[in-house]
Amino acid sequence: MSPQPVLVAVVSGDAPFREQLLSALARGAATDARRHGDFDLQFVDCASAAELLQLARERGALQAAVLDVPALIGSASDPAALLGKLRAVRPELDLFLMVGEEDEAGDMPDAGRSRAEMQGTDMQSAHMQGTDIPGRIEWLDRADVKPSQLCRLVRGAIARRARTPFADTLRDYVYSAKDAWHTPGHSGGDSLRDSPWVADFYQLMGEHIFNTDLSVSVQSLDSLLEPHSVIQEAQELAAEAFGARHTFFVTNGTSTANKVIVQHLLGAGGKVILDQACHKSVHHAVILFGAEPVYLPASVNSRYGMYGPVPKAAIDAALEAHPDAKLLVLTSCTYDGFRYDLAPIVEAAHARGIKVLIDEAWYAHGRAHPAFRPNALDCGADYVTQSTHKMLSAFSQASMIHVADPGFDEHRFRENLNMHTSTSPQYAMIASLDVARKQLSLEGYSQLQRCLGIAARLREGIERTGVFRVLGLADMLPESLGDDGIQLDPLKLSVDVSASGLNAREVQLALFEDYGIQIEKVTHNTITVLVTLGATQSKVLRLLNALQKLAARGPVSEGEDSPPAPVSALPPLSAFAMLPRTAFFGPSRERPLDSEAGGINEGLLGAVSADQVVPYPPGIPALNPGQVITREVASYLLAQFRSGNGIELHGLVERGGRPWLRVVDA
Ligand SMILES: Cc1ncc(COP(=O)(O)O)c(C=O)c1O
Repeated sequence: MSPQPVLVAVVSGDAPFREQLLSALARGAATDARRHGDFDLQFVDCASAAELLQLARERGALQAAVLDVPALIGSASDPAALLGKLRAVRPELDLFLMVGEEDEAGDMPDAGRSRAEMQGTDMQSAHMQGTDIPGRIEWLDRADVKPSQLCRLVRGAIARRARTPFADTLRDYVYSAKDAWHTPGHSGGDSLRDSPWVADFYQLMGEHIFNTDLSVSVQSLDSLLEPHSVIQEAQELAAEAFGARHTFFVTNGTSTANKVIVQHLLGAGGKVILDQACHKSVHHAVILFGAEPVYLPASVNSRYGMYGPVPKAAIDAALEAHPDAKLLVLTSCTYDGFRYDLAPIVEAAHARGIKVLIDEAWYAHGRAHPAFRPNALDCGADYVTQSTHKMLSAFSQASMIHVADPGFDEHRFRENLNMHTSTSPQYAMIASLDVARKQLSLEGYSQLQRCLGIAARLREGIERTGVFRVLGLADMLPESLGDDGIQLDPLKLSVDVSASGLNAREVQLALFEDYGIQIEKVTHNTITVLVTLGATQSKVLRLLNALQKLAARGPVSEGEDSPPAPVSALPPLSAFAMLPRTAFFGPSRERPLDSEAGGINEGLLGAVSADQVVPYPPGIPALNPGQVITREVASYLLAQFRSGNGIELHGLVERGGRPWLRVVDA
C-alpha cells in the first residue's frame, strides 16, 4: 500500500515565520518519509483561522494543526475562539500550540493568554460542546521549535490514533501461535477443516474466523472482565475518540448495555422516567431490577406507522412531577432518525439530580461530523449506549457504553457490567470495536461526508421516480412537536411507497427477489434505507435503478390498493397496580382476551397484566407487567389481533384461534 497522505495545517499570521517553518517542516517530512513508510506528512500553509476552518471542513485528510499562538492573538483569528470552532467541526484533530515565553509567563494580559489560560479556555469551549475533555493538545516553545522534533511529535500523535492495540495484538498472536490445547473446542478450525461433513462451514467462514476465535487462556489478549493492557488501552482510545470520560466495550449489544446502566443506577429499585417507545431492553431492565417506571407517552404518526419522540412538554412535566427519579432514559436518534434537542432536557434533569441515559444505538457516528452534532455526550448526558455495529464498521453485537457521569463509581459499575459479560467473549468482536474506533478517528469525517453525499443522491433519485417519495421531518413529525427542536438523521431515509400500488412489504420483497437488494425495515407504507459507512455509489445506482423499474408500473391514484395503517394511536397508558417485577415474577394465570360472544372479555377489565404485550412492528408495549387492563387497551389489542395485517403481538398466546394473556393471579 502506498503511504497514506496526512495533512497537517501550519497556521500563523506571521508570513515570514510561517514560510520558514513550512520549508523546514517539508525537509523534515521528507526525511521522516524515508524512515517510516506508513503515512506521508504533508504540511499545509494556513495564513488565518478562517483558512484553517475551511481546510478542516473540506479536507478529510487533515489530521493535525500547528498553531502559532502569539501570531494569532489579538487578531480576528483569536486562538481560543478558533479552538472552540475547530473542535466543533473536527474534534479528533491533534493540535500543537506554539507559544512564546511571554505566554508562559502570563505577562501578555492584553495581547493574549497564558498557556494555562489557553488550556482553560479550550476546556471551556470543549465543555460548551458538552464535554470537558479537550482533544489532545501538545505545547511547544515558539522560539525553539525544531522541525524534525515537530515532525516526530505529529507522527507520534497520529500513529497513536492509528493504533489498534487489541486488533494488532490479536493479529500478531494469530501469526505466531502454532498449536492450541485450549478452548474454543474447534481449535482454530482444526475440528472442522478436514471433516467430510462440516468442512464446508469452515470454507464458507474462512480461516480467520476460526483462528481469531480465542479465549482467556491467551493472556496477551487481556481480559474483557478486568482489562489492564490492550483492551484497556483500546477503551481509552475509544473514550477519547467518542468524547467520553470512560468507555467500555460490550459484546452483547446495546440490549445488554442498557440493562447494565439501569442496574448500575437502579439495581436496588427506584424511579426511572422512560420513553414508552424505548427499546425493549430498557423495559426488560425495569422488570429485572424492580424499578418503578414513569412512562413518557410516545408521539404517533399513524399515517406512516411510526412512533415519534416524546413531546418536550411531557418530559418537562415528568421531571417536575418526579424529582425523586434516579434516571431519565430517552432514545436519540430513534430507528426512524428522530433526534432530540437534548441540551435543555439534560439540564432540566440534572437540575433535579436525575441522571440521564441516552440510547444512541442508532447514532454512534454522531460525533464525527458537524452535520450530526450535538450528540448526547455533547449535550451533557451521563451515560450513552451505542451499537457500534449499526452504522459503523464493527461486527454485530459490538457496542460501547460511554460514561461522562461526574460521580461515576468505576468499581461498582465494573461489578454490574461483569454480571452481564460472558467469560468467553468473542475476540473478533472486540477487535472490530477497536478498528471501528480507529476508522472513526482517522476518516470518520470524510466517510460521513461521503455518506451525506450518497444520502442526498438517493433522495434526488428517489424523488425523480415520481412515485416513491423520501419523507422529510414535516411528514414524519406530529405537528404538535414542531417547536421541540427535533431533527432527523439524514442517513436514515424513510421512503413512502403508497403511490406505487404496492405495499411496503411487496416493495421489500421485489427489491430482494428481483434485484438482490435488502433494505432495513418497513412499515405498512414506508421502507427505510440506512446509509451506513458501508454505502457505496454502485449500491446507489442499483437501488435507484430498481426503484425506477418498480415505479415504471406507474403511480396509482391515492388510496387505491393502499393497505390500512396497522398502527393506530396507542390507547392511553393505564395505571400501574404494582411494580413490573412483582407482576412478572408473581403468581399468574392465563385468561382469554376475547369473549365467546365476540367482544372483549369483560371479566378481564381491572385485571393486572403479568407480561409485556407488544404489537410488532413497531415494538412499543401496549401493556407492561403491573399495568391494569382497561377497556381501551383490551379493545385495541383485540382489534390488532383481528386486523389480519400481519402484525405480531408479542406477549399474547394463541389458543384455539383465540388470544390469551397472562394476568396476575388475584
Ligand atoms: C433504540 C435501540 N436501542 C437498543 C437496541 C439494541 O441494540 P443491539 O442490537 O446492539 O443489542 C436497538 C436495536 O435495534 C434499538 O433500536
